[in-house]
Amino acid sequence: MKIVWLGHSAFLLEGSKRVLIDPFITGNPMAPVSVEEIKADVILVTHGHGDHLGDTEEIAKRNKALVVCIHELSRVLAKRDVETMGMNIGGSAYSSGIRITMVPALHSADFEDEKGEIISCGSPVGFVVEMDGVKVYHTGDTGLFSDMKLIGELYEPDLMLLPIGDFYTMGIREAVKAVEFVKPKVAIPMHYRTFPLIDTDPMEFKKLAEKFCKVVVLKPGESYEL
Ligand code: NI
Ligand code: MN
Repeated sequence: MKIVWLGHSAFLLEGSKRVLIDPFITGNPMAPVSVEEIKADVILVTHGHGDHLGDTEEIAKRNKALVVCIHELSRVLAKRDVETMGMNIGGSAYSSGIRITMVPALHSADFEDEKGEIISCGSPVGFVVEMDGVKVYHTGDTGLFSDMKLIGELYEPDLMLLPIGDFYTMGIREAVKAVEFVKPKVAIPMHYRTFPLIDTDPMEFKKLAEKFCKVVVLKPGESYEL
């Protein structure tokens, strides 16, 4: 599987299918691609915040891609004619040979429409994706929680994608503990340096977390093969 970082929390997993996660491209100063260039079969959205839902609607419609997200957010998107699969925390879904498990995240969520109206859209989540025998845990936006140990134990992810930017999510100290809890083979940090408020140093995270697993620091647009 090839894992491409599109900046912030956006990743493209390229294997037998193209799985796009949290495609925040428009307005993302780190985005290495344009919305038009992105090809996806399935889009996973961790929560309704603009820096995660991002360009989901446009990319989904352009690619006829299925959007997998929590039930309440799926209802909001379905009203906007997006093809969705609304699921919930703790369950798994199977779509074209991919297993998608929805896991908890410790965060908040809402959806803001074009008129600035705030709509409730369910809980924030993370995902464990299994494709071509490789398991990837994208935590979404989250604080540290000890049940991450369970996620590690149950799903044994090969790769963990986790925020280190602090302020809105875990900072470096918490993210290092999260890696210790989950014990992936490889960790890739995300959700840092996109904005001044989340300006943490990924090399500092790497130095501390490499006690527990391999840490790969990508630049937006770069990829890692697993
Ligand atoms: Ni958020
Ligand atoms: Mn965020």
